[in-house]
Amino acid sequence: MATVQEKSARLEAAQAQFTGPVRLSEPYPDAPPLWIEPDGDALATDMTALAGWMQDNRAAIEKALLSFGAVVWRGFPVAETDDFIAMMQDFEPYAKGYAGGTSNRKAIKGQAMEATRTPPQVYIQLHQEMSYMPDNPRALAFYCREAPDSGGETVICDMRGLLEEIPEPTRRKFEDYGARYVRNLRSADVDDWRADPELRHSTWQYWFDSTDRDEVSAKLSERGTHYRWNEDGSLTFWNSEPAVTSHPVTGERLYFNQLNSQIQNEWTIGKERADLFDRLYGDHTDRPYSVSFDNGDPVTEEDYLAVRDLFETRKIAFPWRSGDVMLLDNRLVAHGRHPFTGERDVQVMLFQ
Ligand SMILES: [Fe+2]
Repeated sequence: MATVQEKSARLEAAQAQFTGPVRLSEPYPDAPPLWIEPDGDALATDMTALAGWMQDNRAAIEKALLSFGAVVWRGFPVAETDDFIAMMQDFEPYAKGYAGGTSNRKAIKGQAMEATRTPPQVYIQLHQEMSYMPDNPRALAFYCREAPDSGGETVICDMRGLLEEIPEPTRRKFEDYGARYVRNLRSADVDDWRADPELRHSTWQYWFDSTDRDEVSAKLSERGTHYRWNEDGSLTFWNSEPAVTSHPVTGERLYFNQLNSQIQNEWTIGKERADLFDRLYGDHTDRPYSVSFDNGDPVTEEDYLAVRDLFETRKIAFPWRSGDVMLLDNRLVAHGRHPFTGERDVQVMLFQ
């Protein structure tokens, strides 16, 4: 006999709000996401029907995003990028786009972008999108066009309550000091040791899709980012941002920064790579990434591990299936990527 599971209040509320032939479930108790599957053929095979359903259920989706932090659609006919775009057509695109972001990615079509070009063996640590910038997307959607052979999950983490669980005195530092993010992009016109692809030291021309310094300077100023053009042709830019935010709708206080995901040292990139960076860059050359608390204090091993352990304990990883779509509230739920093998095509859209 099947056991009847207690339904949570949030699932009951979602079931009362959504209309049409769908099945709703919550695979992880008290954690994201709300899981939506078609109930019957119409929504499983007809993209126009799905686009219509998305419109009809727009308010319910927003409510679910607040209560669950994330929504996953599985089993719907999202076969191509065009379908993903059609599905998300009512969500307002993030106006400022992605220029100046830290991930290596390019546009695919319309607002849809590659999720990342970071090499498959790299674990992209959990983070909230562009939380190192003064302006960042409210929500983001991932679309798995092609699932990899193994791994490659877009892992997620419930951020509700995480800040409160960070032990003292680390929590205090995040709350009181805020975060400072410094980036360096080398010049494509200067062929020095930094051009070694192993270092993954990107060029500003690639990053901003421009060869015009004035244009790049204007983009950075527009975003309130400080910058400096160096004599070696490279560009250094930096931001000071709070490390904690209030959710714009619920008012909840949430950890919101990328100190942990951008720090590069032996705990995050391995001893061998950290030693290589120390040897090559030392204290004399700006590194691709460097972060600190905004009072100048370094993020110590204790600080780093306290937060990493919370992220890892709370982490949720479900394998992608081709056609899956996942929508996240960028403040309530962090995301990252597990290493993978095989071909993986995961695309992303950012929303206002
Ligand atoms: Fe990201």
